[in-house]
Amino acid sequence: MPVPAPAATLSVLSEEFAADPYRHFAALREQAPVHHEPEIDSYFLSRHADVKRVLTDHEAFTTETLQLRAEPVMRGRVLAQMTGAEHTAKRKIVVRGFTGPALQDQLRAIRSNATALLAPFLHRGRIDLVNDFGRPFAVQVTLDVLGLDKRDWRQLAAWHHGVAEFITSVTLTPERRRHCLDCAERLEAYLLPVIAERRRHPREDLISRLCAAEFDGVAMSDGDVTALILNVLVAAAEPADKTLALLFKHLIDHPGQLAAVRADPGLLPAAIAETLRHTPPVQLVPRRARYDTDFGGTGVPAGATVFCMIGAANRDPEAFTDPDSFDLHRPDLGTARSFTAAAQHLAFGTGLHQCVGAAFARAEIETVAAMLLPLLDEVRYSPGFHYRETGLYTRGPVSLSLDFTPGTAPGPGGRPGEGNPGRAK
Ligand code: HEM
Repeated sequence: MPVPAPAATLSVLSEEFAADPYRHFAALREQAPVHHEPEIDSYFLSRHADVKRVLTDHEAFTTETLQLRAEPVMRGRVLAQMTGAEHTAKRKIVVRGFTGPALQDQLRAIRSNATALLAPFLHRGRIDLVNDFGRPFAVQVTLDVLGLDKRDWRQLAAWHHGVAEFITSVTLTPERRRHCLDCAERLEAYLLPVIAERRRHPREDLISRLCAAEFDGVAMSDGDVTALILNVLVAAAEPADKTLALLFKHLIDHPGQLAAVRADPGLLPAAIAETLRHTPPVQLVPRRARYDTDFGGTGVPAGATVFCMIGAANRDPEAFTDPDSFDLHRPDLGTARSFTAAAQHLAFGTGLHQCVGAAFARAEIETVAAMLLPLLDEVRYSPGFHYRETGLYTRGPVSLSLDFTPGTAPGPGGRPGEGNPGRAK
């Protein structure tokens, strides 16, 4: 394998970096922790302490970059652009949509979505965990949370893909830009009649909650509600499906840890947290510097765009011992706080805009992974399968073709272990 380029000559926009960013993180942290990328005039921060500082100093680092990066496709302001009382109030409304009593209903829906999607593959003994299962599963779960019709999931997923491409592209051609904006317009046209219907006939879903909620005594406009629906749709689906696939990849690559999780599914939260630390699906979080700022001797000018490199920060030896190893037993992981505001890893961000869906993501991935483990007995890569990841902003496997010996069939409630006795190990 060729030696990684020295940080001084490396471009984070290069194919070499895109092929495997993890090979370059140590050089960036050590030699260019504030890396300037001239082509897009932006700064890339790779040290854990610097990333944490940017994400928690809300006065000095704002989310104004989202006016250009997100607003055109979100059709309005998303949570990350809000501050103060408005942010607290609207964040609370969103969070109630997938916690407490709402979560119990959603866990049932998660199991039944997973059971239905897995059914055609179980007897075949082969599944692409990304394309056959993870992507449709994560979109369908998000549609359930919002209260959108799952029968439309393919169309909604295609529009969602265009919206996500706009937000997560570091460079975008004029043609792709037009395509993304077109997806956003179609998605908005689909959502407006749904919003009108939920205003007349509220249900128990997040869209109805958003329609009924008031801020400062005033109900949210259709535009505000649309932006928050898109906010959840885009934020929830993609990182969840990537995390699920990465979890299985790491466990397959570490058979001892896979055996430990099979023997004790109580270890799943630690395995998910370590997956998020080791290979966070959201790799970049953008901010704008309000003032000239110094990072250990390197200056960032006022107005500059700063990208927090979550993958590099999570592998900083100043924050984690032996950071390049995947070890769900690592003493510095702190599983109990890994899905809270006190998390040491930065996969959910940190500070005021830390992921609102972290606890839900844990419940979703833990539930489905606990179902999959006994079903996918003797799980291994399919013969000839070549593993490849893509993405600079969000990153995950292109596919994950797995062979397995069909194990325990799901029972009537969709829970594993309620059907035939299996040979789970
Ligand atoms: C493993 C799965 C997930 C990962 C790794 C993840 C990651 C992140 C990150 C890094 C941020 C911070 C962005 C910033 O600071 O600008 C964020 C924010 C957010 N996430 Fe997640 N996310 C996940 C799942 C979810 C789910 C399941 C939902 C909803 C059900 C969700 C909803 C949101 C929302 C609404 C925000 C904006 C919060 C705010 O600005 O106050 N996420 N997420």
